[in-house]
Amino acid sequence: MPLLPFKKEIAARLSALTGMTAEEAETTLEIPPDSALGEYAFPCFHLARRLKKPPQAIAAELAGQFAGLTSAYLERVEQAGPYLNFFVRPAYLFQELLPQILREGPSYGTLDEGAGRTVLVDYSAPNIAKPFSVGHLRSTVIGNALCRLYRACGYKVVGINHLGDWGTQFGKLIVAYRRFGEPALLADDPVHYLYRLYVRFHQEAEKAPELEDEARQWFRRLETGDREARELWQHFRDLSLENFQRLYRCLGISFDSYMGESDYNDQLEATIELARQRGLVKESEGALVADLEGHGLPSCLLRKKDGAALYITRDLAAAIYRHKTYAFHRMLYVVGAEQTLHFQQLFKLLELLGFDWAANCVHVPFGLIHFKDGRMSTRQGKVIFLEEVLERAVELAREIIEEKNPSLEEKDAVARAVGLGAVIFGDLINDRIKDVEFDWEKVLDFAGETAPYIQYSHARICSILRRAAAAKELPDPQPAALLPEAEEKTLIIALGRFSEEINRAVRDNRPSYVARYLLELARSFNRFYHNCPVLTAAEELRKGRLMLVAAVRIVLQNGLALLGIEAPQEM
Ligand code: ARG
Repeated sequence: MPLLPFKKEIAARLSALTGMTAEEAETTLEIPPDSALGEYAFPCFHLARRLKKPPQAIAAELAGQFAGLTSAYLERVEQAGPYLNFFVRPAYLFQELLPQILREGPSYGTLDEGAGRTVLVDYSAPNIAKPFSVGHLRSTVIGNALCRLYRACGYKVVGINHLGDWGTQFGKLIVAYRRFGEPALLADDPVHYLYRLYVRFHQEAEKAPELEDEARQWFRRLETGDREARELWQHFRDLSLENFQRLYRCLGISFDSYMGESDYNDQLEATIELARQRGLVKESEGALVADLEGHGLPSCLLRKKDGAALYITRDLAAAIYRHKTYAFHRMLYVVGAEQTLHFQQLFKLLELLGFDWAANCVHVPFGLIHFKDGRMSTRQGKVIFLEEVLERAVELAREIIEEKNPSLEEKDAVARAVGLGAVIFGDLINDRIKDVEFDWEKVLDFAGETAPYIQYSHARICSILRRAAAAKELPDPQPAALLPEAEEKTLIIALGRFSEEINRAVRDNRPSYVARYLLELARSFNRFYHNCPVLTAAEELRKGRLMLVAAVRIVLQNGLALLGIEAPQEM
């Protein structure tokens, strides 16, 4: 078992001694900055305030109560000023944990705390017939990682792509297509072409404002089920979706549901009616407004005076439908921070409608990406085509590989894994709420805080293991010798913290914890490898070290997979 049970054991004992709950004790435990201070530290400041005693005195008292106490995990407890430091048994690390990692392999790190619970993740959600923005790229990458992290914690996860496939822009697009559209160009490259039509519409409408009216009429026709409008819309939707799906396949992402905004059209009336019954709706010049003034939020429109419903009306209907369908334990909306107000209003409305599960809906916001490379950021303003970003990443990775390892087989597959990995990790390593400056050189730096650095460490281990296998030496999951070096202990402890990091990432919906962790692990591995020979060490040591590097390989691979990144065997 990893270190989590050790932590839980400490928490249970602390709880028995102090009267705190085990949970409280567990969240109070810290990871000391230096391993000479043990694997976990318990700061006594909190208790000091409660008991009105100096924290040092409490630590001393507790240390006395722990004295002589050991267990399968616990070696000893020491007081250090106001802290209590807990040390894990090396025998546990090398003789139980290490073989366990090798035995569990691909499932090492997973937990079952979410068993029996469903989590919905609403992510990606590009808008059809509008360009796929960088925001959608972030949502896609973060959302995918969250899906995988929740799954690793035992939850049933439903990934939903709430496609933006409804709205007045379709009226504009229909007008533009009927006037200037060419079916062959559309079929050839739908997303770019639809975007060009959209831009063209705005250019033309500047000269001829009546186009705007025409667009409104066409949207109206679409809403009332006009056959021509409907067919065009369906055609645009199908083509765009095909294109998005190609991208998702390339990123290794699949959704459990593609129910988009248009799929709720038949539920909007009932939703508005519900709000009306609850007295939430007032009429204002023919429009329907949900009144949120008394709740510290601006009111919002549910229906315009021309009868059209809004984004939030569709989100309300979708949330209600989803709760009926999935009875979720939690629902995440992975959407940019610019929509914070929208989600505050949405959750407040759900609460006012009497749904107590509104409290389980969470907006997971993120900041913007700025692309440092002018070529990517300036083409037509802020628009960026995800496809081009990904293609460029793979191309750049290929150039680097060509230079570093010209004789590598399967260069294309490796370039793909490295290029895509670089983009994904370049996003996930950041605290999601901050803006990201995306710099190609930085994300592809093989020695930097990057996916290629981690992937390279993984490939290095694969090469050690290949050489060992050639000498008929395979790491075998038997209790290993206690490895003597500090670098070895650091590594095995890091391996033991894997599930704790997954847990934390899920608790805060922050995949960056796992990204950081993997980076640290790869660094620790490289320090170890620099100082401790593996294949040339004496037999007992060699066996233990081979197991250790094999275990590092497993965690690097599992961890990268959780972030949606592949780990090639060679680079
Ligand atoms: N399509 C929306 C946009 O691009 C994002 C939708 C997010 N999900 C939701 N349920 N509102 O802004």
